[in-house]
Amino acid sequence: MTIFSVHSDGTKAIAGEAAIPGDKSCSHRALILGAMAEGETKISGLLESDDVLATAHAVAAFGIEVERLDAGEWRVRGGRWRSPESAVDCGNSGTAARLLIGAAAGMDGLVATFTGDASLSLRPMRRVTAPLERMGARIQGGDRLPLTVHGARLGGIDHRNVPASAQVKSAILLAGLSTAAPVRVEEPVPSRDHSEIMLREFRVEIDGATLGGQRRLTACELAIASDPSSAAFPIVAAAIVGGSSVTVRNLLVNPLRTGLYETLEAMGAGLDLSNEHVQSGEIVADLRLDHRPLRPCHVGAAQIPGMIDEIPALAIACAFADGESVIEGLAELKVKESDRLGAVVAGLIACGVAAVADGDTLRIFGRGQVRGGASVVTHGDHRIAMAFLTLGLGAEQPVEVDQAEMIATSFPGYVEVMRGLGANIEERP
Ligand code: S3P
Repeated sequence: MTIFSVHSDGTKAIAGEAAIPGDKSCSHRALILGAMAEGETKISGLLESDDVLATAHAVAAFGIEVERLDAGEWRVRGGRWRSPESAVDCGNSGTAARLLIGAAAGMDGLVATFTGDASLSLRPMRRVTAPLERMGARIQGGDRLPLTVHGARLGGIDHRNVPASAQVKSAILLAGLSTAAPVRVEEPVPSRDHSEIMLREFRVEIDGATLGGQRRLTACELAIASDPSSAAFPIVAAAIVGGSSVTVRNLLVNPLRTGLYETLEAMGAGLDLSNEHVQSGEIVADLRLDHRPLRPCHVGAAQIPGMIDEIPALAIACAFADGESVIEGLAELKVKESDRLGAVVAGLIACGVAAVADGDTLRIFGRGQVRGGASVVTHGDHRIAMAFLTLGLGAEQPVEVDQAEMIATSFPGYVEVMRGLGANIEERP
C-alpha cells in the first residue's frame, strides 16, 4: 500500500498547463465498438489506465485483435467474438463489466463469465441484467458479479432509464445492435451520450437513444479528448489555492459532462473556454480556471448525472467556500467504486470540515479555510484519493491518503501532472 502526503503552506499557487489523459468513458467505448465493427479501427488518445486496460484485455479474450502502436495509439480489428477460455476479469471497472455484458448478451452461441475486484463485486448488476433479460438475454447469477452470459437472439425493448445511467443505456444499445427489433431508451433526465455519439461515428443509425434500421458497425478513426473527470482535480486545486491558474487543452466538454465546471463558475471561479471544436463527434475545447474566492453552491438532483463522477472534487471546492453548500440527489454516489457519499463526509470531518449526509443530500459547512492534518481512508477508490490529495494542497496541514496506487484506475501520471503544476506531493515507501 503506497501512501502519499500532500502539503503546502497554502500560499504556493498551482499554475501551468495540465496534460490530462484521454476520457475513460470514451476509451472503453472505442475499444468495445471497435471490437464489434467490421474492419480496423484506429484510436488515438486512448486512456491507458487500469480500467481501460481491463477492457482491452477483455476484448482480446473474446478473440479480437487489439494492438498498442504507441502511447495512446491503438488498433482494433473487429469481427466475430468467440467464447473466452476463462473468466473475463473487469478489474475495478463498472463500465467494462456493464457494457461488455450488454455486448455479449446479443451474440448468439457465445458464453462468457464476468468477474471483478472486491469493489466491483459489490456493485449492483441487476440494473443491467433486468432490461437485457426483458430483451431475451440469458444471464446466470444474481445482482453481483460473477455473472455468466449465454449469448442469445434478442428482441426489442422500450426502457425508461431511471435512475439515469449511461452504463445501463449503453448495455441496452450494444445488445440492441444484434437485433432488428425496436430498441429505445427513454431518458427523463439525460445521462452521458458518448455511446450514441460514437455509434454514429461507426455509421450506426441512432436518433437520441433509439436505434435505427442500420445497426452494422463500420470501422473508423477516433481521437479521444482529455477526460473532464480527471481534469477536475487540477482544476479544483487551482480553484482553492490563491493565485492559481490552470489550463487544460483539448478537454472533452460534452454538455452532459460539464456540471462541475458550470458549478465552479457559479461559485465564483474564473473560467474561460476557448478553441471549441468537434473531434470524433464530441465537443472539445481549451479550459482555463483562474483562482477567485469561492461562494457556496446549491446543486439540485437533476444536475447530478452531469457531474456524478466529480462530486468528490466538488465537495473539496465546497470545503473552501465560505458558507453552507448543499448537493442533492446523491443516491447513486453510494454505489460507485466505494460509497463515495460516506467516504467524502468521513474524509471532510477528518480534515476539520463540518459535513453531513442527510439522506441523499450532502451538506458542507465551509469556512473559507481548511485545517487538513489527517490520514484519509479511500476504501480503494481512485477519486476519493485524488479528491483529498487536492484538499491537502489548500489545507493548513498535510493530508495523507491510503491505497494511492488505485489512482492508476483512471489517471496514471496524476502525481507527475500535479507536481508539474507546482503541487507538493510526496510518496512514502
Ligand atoms: C459511466 C457512467 C457513469 C459514471 C461512470 C462511467 C460510463 O455511471 O459514473 O464512471 O462510462 O457510462 P452510471 O451510468 O452508472 O451512472
